[in-house]
Amino acid sequence: MSWFNKMIARTLPAVPKPIVRRVSSRYIAGETLDEALEVITRLNHAGMMATQDVLGEFVTSAEEARRAGQEYVRVLHAIAESKVDSNVSLKLTQMGLKLDLDLCHEVCRAVVEEAIRLGNFVRIDMEDSSCTDDTLAVYERLRAEHPEHVGCVIQAYLKRSLDDVRSLVSRGANVRLCKGIYIEPAAIAYKDHDAINRNYVLLLRELLAGGCYTGIATHDEELVNAAYGIIEDLELTPDRYEFQMLLGVTENLRASILARGHRLRVYVPFGSHWYPYSLRRLKENPEVAGHILRGMFNGKK
Ligand code: FDA
Repeated sequence: MSWFNKMIARTLPAVPKPIVRRVSSRYIAGETLDEALEVITRLNHAGMMATQDVLGEFVTSAEEARRAGQEYVRVLHAIAESKVDSNVSLKLTQMGLKLDLDLCHEVCRAVVEEAIRLGNFVRIDMEDSSCTDDTLAVYERLRAEHPEHVGCVIQAYLKRSLDDVRSLVSRGANVRLCKGIYIEPAAIAYKDHDAINRNYVLLLRELLAGGCYTGIATHDEELVNAAYGIIEDLELTPDRYEFQMLLGVTENLRASILARGHRLRVYVPFGSHWYPYSLRRLKENPEVAGHILRGMFNGKK
């Protein structure tokens, strides 16, 4: 990313919200469940699976956490009724992780149990490092109860992740592997692109060789190519893994993965709490400056 793009990415919180909304619209399916289902139907027709995320994080009351859980139950029912190919991804701070672990477990268990009734699956996203231990603890409680219907996420930028992966492999967990998006201190996280990629490849091999069903979540062509190599080495059939990408990112790479016969799932966020998610995505966009400037001066994306 050029210095100019980096500078714009840093000053994004000062950009007026309507402009952020306009330029981040490619990353968000819409504000309503119907809009998300429309996007998913189109993805399914193009041969892709989806995972649906109801935007929101860091709730401050038990009531909000329970409401978020109920919203996911509504999404699971809508998926079943509309017969789209999608599971759900949720964030534990939206389910009360920072309030009370038992509450968070109870809210998530209700979602997972509904997913089981409807033949579906719940992925627990990973948030910043203040959440890692508690997220893995709640995940482990849910996995012990319902091993086939819940999965977690590991971030390759965290130095602890090899230990976490080894422990997950020993329990046959279902894991999404991503680089990680939050800003973490150098004491606990790799900062350098090459070091993160090296760790990603190491963890991916560990997961796939260990027999874990793995979501290979990246838009980095170097990592996608490394994944092809590992899949070939281990002679894995396409039912042992899936590639995963975010809505609105690297659609050409998406098409080339599908053309090679691999399965691919797109992360489809929707809802009224679009702002923090949009900022994270815009900061990662290598052309963020151009998008923001165009959004400011001529109202186009
Ligand atoms: P990298 O950031 O190096 O990007 C590779 C290339 O992709 C870039 O050069 C650019 O061309 C393109 N690109 C990436 N982001 C873009 C954007 N926003 N706009 C335009 N182009 C872009 N993180 C986390 O901490 N916890 C989680 O639970 C998840 N969950 C998750 C699910 C899924 C399905 C995906 C794909 C990603 C996540 N992530 C995540 C986010 C992840 O950690 C990471 O921030 C992004 O995927 C970007 O990293 P890449 O591997 O794509 O590499």
